[in-house]
Order: sequence, then structure tokens, then C-alpha cells
Amino acid sequence: MARAFAPGKCILFGEHAVVYGHPAVAVAIDGGVEVSIEESDRWTLEGLPFDSSRHPHISYILQEVFQYDGPSLRMQVKSSLFSSAGLGSSAALSNAMGAALHSHLNPGQPLDPVALARMGHSAEARAQQGRASPTDTATSALGGCVVVSGEWVEGTRHVFDASLSTPEGEREWAINAVDLPDNLEEAWLVIGYTGDISPTGRMVAGVASLLEEKPELEGEMDAIARITRAGLTALSAGNLEAVGMAMDACHERLQRLQVSSPALEALVEAARPHALGAKLTGAGGGGCMVALAREPRRVAESIEIAGGKPLISRVGAPGVHLLEN
Ligand code: PMV
Repeated sequence: MARAFAPGKCILFGEHAVVYGHPAVAVAIDGGVEVSIEESDRWTLEGLPFDSSRHPHISYILQEVFQYDGPSLRMQVKSSLFSSAGLGSSAALSNAMGAALHSHLNPGQPLDPVALARMGHSAEARAQQGRASPTDTATSALGGCVVVSGEWVEGTRHVFDASLSTPEGEREWAINAVDLPDNLEEAWLVIGYTGDISPTGRMVAGVASLLEEKPELEGEMDAIARITRAGLTALSAGNLEAVGMAMDACHERLQRLQVSSPALEALVEAARPHALGAKLTGAGGGGCMVALAREPRRVAESIEIAGGKPLISRVGAPGVHLLEN
């Protein structure tokens, strides 16, 4: 049997501003998706007959990337991520599926994380009408801390470039990695899920029309870009207090862009007394917030009491990898 795990992600800084060419900083989290595959006498997913039309990421990887025409497969998928919550569960599924299939077809051969990131990105684009940022797939493939931007960002290591033909034209990104210092192990991320689903496309469109209506809010994007760079410097230096302050500041700007929600505010407020910083993460409107804390259990309890579902993670988990049987 071939088994692989790929992590989810959470955005620490730069959501929404990244749509306008500014950098975004994401980290891989401990929650993720595990895929196992083995040959079988019929095609199944989770024990049920596999219907390829209902699983666009899996079918794309099987048919178009690997052009698989071998025996039927029994596929199992286990996710420890909240789905449709901005934690990159579909990217993690694509990467884990690609890794498990690679290992099934080429036993003993190492994984190529950049090839998996590219494959995952094209699977996402295919499933999302040609629009997909490479943030989720790159962070899940490479692990650690990843900066996605229109260009190389100072203080980071360039890993690869991604491009995509979208309905709005050609788009290009630079994918950069950040080496995190050891003392970041003293702090944890506590993600809080509101339970509300809010489609990313709708939130991005909402910000676009708000900017049209109030062009003065463009200053908020520049402010997020400044905070992102400061947050990145603090992360690289292992200055936990400054990372937390940058998270708080980023949240305030996102509030002004009207992408927070009462449920997100309740969780951010509940987390803050015990945290170094807290903010909404991802598209907003619902989905998740994230806090940085030295005592993650207290924050997780506060989030739970405020009505959220907590998930504790290291700051930057390992990227996609194979699992022993
Ligand atoms: O889909 P999410 O919740 O991970 O957030 C996407 C981040 C945005 O900046 C809002 C959109 C994007 O494509 O980068």
C-alpha cells in the first residue's frame, strides 16, 4: 500500500493584499490530508464506488497527470482539517494523492515537492474554473513558511515560479521559502474555526467593489504589505512578540476592508488575552482565525468557550511526505 500525508496551511500575513500583487506569508500546519492507495478488484473511494465526476482533483491527477490506466484502486482519504475553511484542504488532498500515486507507481523513488506543488496548482485551477493562487499547494508541498508574491521578497529564498492562464489573463507568482529559527518552537498556532463557510471568490469580489466605491481604502492594502514585511522580519528573527503585534495590526486592516465577521471577532477577542497576537486568516467572512501563543491550550479553551472549534499546530509543519505502512 502507498500512503502519503500533505499538510494544510494558514495565512499569517497578506491575505487579500496578495490579490493586488503584494506578498502573502503562509505556514504549513499539523492538520492535513492522508491518502492511501492499493490495487483492488474495483475502483473505490472510502469504500464506496468511485465516481470521478464528483472528485475533480483526484480524477485530474489520475487521468491527466499520471495518465493512469492500471488496475482498479482502493483509495482512502482521511482529513484532520475543517473543510471549506481556508485551511487548504483541497490542496492537501491533491498533494497527498499525487505523492501516494507517485509512490505506488515508482516504489522507492523520492518525492519532488516542487513537481507536486505544480501538479497540485494545476489540479486546483482545473477544479476552480482556471482561477487558483499557488499559495495552498506550494505551502502544503514545501512545508515550513512560504512567501507568495509577484516577485522575489527580500529575506527569503526563491524556490520556484508559478504561472497560470486565468480568465482575466496570464498570472505569475514567485514562491519563496523562509527558514524559521529554532525558538519559534516555543510558540504555537491556535486556529479557531467559526463553523461558517464563506467562499473566497465572493470575499475577493466584495473587496474589489469596496475599493471601487471607496478608493481611499487602497491605503489599507499598502498598510497590509508593510505589516507583512515587518511580520516576516520578526518571524525570521524569532521575535515572537513582534510577530504577534503584526498579526493584531494585520487584523485591524482586514476589519477596515470589511472581511471580518461577528463570529471571527468573537474568536479573536476570546484568544487575545492569552495570545501574543490574533487575526482572521484567509478570505474572512467566516472560516478561521489564528492566534500565536506560548500556552496554546488556554487559547484553545477560550476559543471553544466562545463557540469555535480549535486546532493547535506548530508554526510551520513539514511538507508533503510518504508514510510507512
Ligand atoms: O481561500 P483562503 O481562505 O485561504 O484565502 C485566500 C486568500 C486571499 O488572499 C483572500 C485570496 C487569494 O487568492 O490569495
